[in-house]
Amino acid sequence: MAIAIKSAREIALMRQAGKLLAKVHEDLAKELRPGMSTLEIDRLGEDMIRSLGCVPSFKNYCGYPASVCVSVNEEVVHGIPSSKRWIDEGDIVSLDIGLIHKGYHSDAARTHGIGEIHKEAALLIERTRQSFFEGMHFAKPGRHLYEISGAIGGYAEQFDYGVVRDLCGHGIGKKLHEEPEVPNFRKLARGVKLRPGMALAIEPMINMGTWQVCWLEDEWTVVSADMSLSAHYENTIVITEGEPEILTLTESELAEDESLNRYLRG
Ligand code: MF3
Ligand code: CO
Repeated sequence: MAIAIKSAREIALMRQAGKLLAKVHEDLAKELRPGMSTLEIDRLGEDMIRSLGCVPSFKNYCGYPASVCVSVNEEVVHGIPSSKRWIDEGDIVSLDIGLIHKGYHSDAARTHGIGEIHKEAALLIERTRQSFFEGMHFAKPGRHLYEISGAIGGYAEQFDYGVVRDLCGHGIGKKLHEEPEVPNFRKLARGVKLRPGMALAIEPMINMGTWQVCWLEDEWTVVSADMSLSAHYENTIVITEGEPEILTLTESELAEDESLNRYLRG
């Protein structure tokens, strides 16, 4: 199967799907409090998605039981919300959310610190975010897919972080997961040539320690093999004739995001 090139109409719908998801991220982040259960986070997120008239795309996807993946500390991705798991001051909490709007998907993740967190944890979060923007320099027509991958991985590795290799970003559109796979590390091959209209979910998952990961017995939760902290940052983007369009940035990120501004300044 070839990689779908989205029409202007499809991109307009994905842009709306991205905006709506950004709103959910923005509002849900404001609700995070020490002592809250991860199930509470999921319930709030699902209500927000539905009250915007959208469908939570993760719910029942391959049997995943929730709308928001909530991954705490050493959990990399796909943490299952639970009424018996509480977030605490000092934790880092990754929220990965996807929704469907008028038949089109958007997918984005952010890692938040709860209250005061260690300096090293804050750096991990910021550098994981920055690795995404390093990749964006290559998200242009004529560039090749794995130039994005190499830029993300190369940036993170200079801090001796572990770049997760067992999970990747992906094409996105009418389906949550479309071709191509988007790794976050350098590959020997260069990958497909990027073309305007390709929509991608790019999602670096970066560990403080080893890149290796394990799956817990719930068959979903991915943790770092050495139990080191892990951060996740994901946006849905579209390749255009010029700069990539990042569809899932929140209003406050658009207003004040340091990485974004650094990136736009070149
Ligand atoms: N952002 C993740 C992904 O793209 C979320 C999928 S979680 C699942 O793979 F529950 F939907 F599987
Ligand atoms: Co994704």
